[in-house]
Amino acid sequence: MVELNDIRVSFDGQPVLNGVNFSMRAGEFVYLVGPTGAGKSSLLRLLYMDLKPEAGTVHVSGYDGATTRERDIPHLRRKIGIVFQDFKLLDDRDVYENVAFALYVTNTRRSEIKKRILHALADVGLSHKRNQMPQELSGGEQQRVVIARAIVNAPSLLLADEPTGNLDPSASAEIMELLRKINTRGTAVLMATHNYELVRRYPARIVQLKDGKLFEVELRER
Ligand SMILES: Nc1ncnc2c1ncn2[C@@H]1O[C@H](COP(=O)(O)OP(=O)(O)OP(=O)(O)O)[C@@H](O)[C@H]1O
Ligand SMILES: [Mg+2]
Repeated sequence: MVELNDIRVSFDGQPVLNGVNFSMRAGEFVYLVGPTGAGKSSLLRLLYMDLKPEAGTVHVSGYDGATTRERDIPHLRRKIGIVFQDFKLLDDRDVYENVAFALYVTNTRRSEIKKRILHALADVGLSHKRNQMPQELSGGEQQRVVIARAIVNAPSLLLADEPTGNLDPSASAEIMELLRKINTRGTAVLMATHNYELVRRYPARIVQLKDGKLFEVELRER
């Protein structure tokens, strides 16, 4: 599903990732933790091929970073779902059209597109808000729209970069429940987070970035 080997990434001559190895199996749920600036977002960017490593190899969902052409990267991104901390919804169109956005570029039939969008919105509990504009939704609801958009193509991998970073505890818990549900159905989830409270409440494998390296972490208290 995901395999990083001996990765090096630097910015302005400063190494951020230096000898990172990481692999993730299909269907796994993994938390990516580490202090601010440790390179969590950079690691996720490697996986959706928004960043190339100076050294090392990247394999994601059957794509090899070394041989994937620029024009194939959009295909990869449609096979994985991506969720950011700041919701990144298009504010000139309603909820339905935001979720539809990723589908119109594919060769999917209109009726099939509609079916998938309505399913995804039902999954995140927002069917009744499908004609609202993003500005009319709470932060938690906006993030659920982003998740609907991320799962509408039924991805085998979901990458989430601090998806609860801007949300209060109750909205954060809803997002977690949703990510766990999506994971239970077989989508692997890699979630970068600072929220140790959530990590304790929803235990899963934890990897930590520190001083350019990646370590497995044992969860001590439950
Ligand atoms: N495009 C860039 N240009 C220059 N430096 C960058 C760039 N992207 C990241 N960095 C630097 O690389 C380091 C790692 O950044 P990254 O965003 O991956 O960390 P992070 O673990 O996601 O941090 P946070 O928890 O604050 O989100 C930081 O020192 C950051 O300033
Ligand atoms: Mg980050």
